[in-house]
Amino acid sequence: MHTHHSTPGRHEHERASESTAASARLLELDGEVLTSYYARLTGRLADLAGDPAPSRILDLGSGPGTGTLALAGRFPAARVTAVDISPRMLHRLRKRAASHGIADRVDTVEANADEPWTFTGVDAPYDLVWAAAFLHHVGDPVQTLEKMYEALRPGGLVAVTEMDFFPRHLPENAGVGRPGLEARLHAATNTEPPHEWSDQLRAAGFVLLERRPYEIHLDRAQAGPRLNAYAQSSLGTLRSHAAGLLGSEDLDALDALLDETHPHGVARREDLSVRTTRTAWIARRP
Ligand SMILES: C[S@@+](CC[C@H](N)C(=O)[O-])C[C@H]1O[C@@H](n2cnc3c(N)ncnc32)[C@H](O)[C@@H]1O
Repeated sequence: MHTHHSTPGRHEHERASESTAASARLLELDGEVLTSYYARLTGRLADLAGDPAPSRILDLGSGPGTGTLALAGRFPAARVTAVDISPRMLHRLRKRAASHGIADRVDTVEANADEPWTFTGVDAPYDLVWAAAFLHHVGDPVQTLEKMYEALRPGGLVAVTEMDFFPRHLPENAGVGRPGLEARLHAATNTEPPHEWSDQLRAAGFVLLERRPYEIHLDRAQAGPRLNAYAQSSLGTLRSHAAGLLGSEDLDALDALLDETHPHGVARREDLSVRTTRTAWIARRP
């Protein structure tokens, strides 16, 4: 909390960087908790790529590097070029790559994917382009898919993924407020229609190999020690959108759940799980 004299511009800047830090943290925890999902998906890519394994990989809209780290782990001889518009995300990615001992295999490029791609010279043509929870951010998804096509070698693969809905963590009765709180929170805040990229991939010239939902159901043991932090972070993100959408009784109950000192708080309870679905499209440049 800053108490010095601030201009409105500075307040906005601080809010923006707090929100980038919060979303980077959520994305990092996502990679730490959903390891089995990332292992399944990158394993499927290894099967479809065959021999030789991808050695030049582009991670578009990399964020703090959840995909970069999973791909570098799956393909130990590969170099990954991570592109993101946010220097803060890329800063975190470089730190994490260094702590995983793979800094020498990761290049970061700060660029806006909506502008002409000057970065594809870094390692192009690529064997694999990965775009996770990213395509819905760009201005013209088909144009971006066409650029991905151009950046790939013939025979190269593209993997596009989207989160179908935010993860759910709580039991029906969370012990605070009325039962069904998390369902009401999701119904009120998840207003986006589901993303669908099959036709756009074909329009860009790709051959669609598969479109598959990945159902994720992890209990406490499967999710591992970061589950509470992950649930705290994802519930906190939804809470930040919920003002005005839920009644005050539900908002108070959510605040109690996010209070780290509350006996039913998400930070300390032992009955959390992860229930969510991701959809993955895998396509080949002919
Ligand atoms: C929801 S995050 C996904 C991050 C990462 N792929 C993951 O799955 O953890 C979307 C990322 O896309 C980046 N992004 C959004 N618009 C972009 C653009 N036009 N060009 C490059 N990156 C962009 C954001 O900065 C953010 O890091």
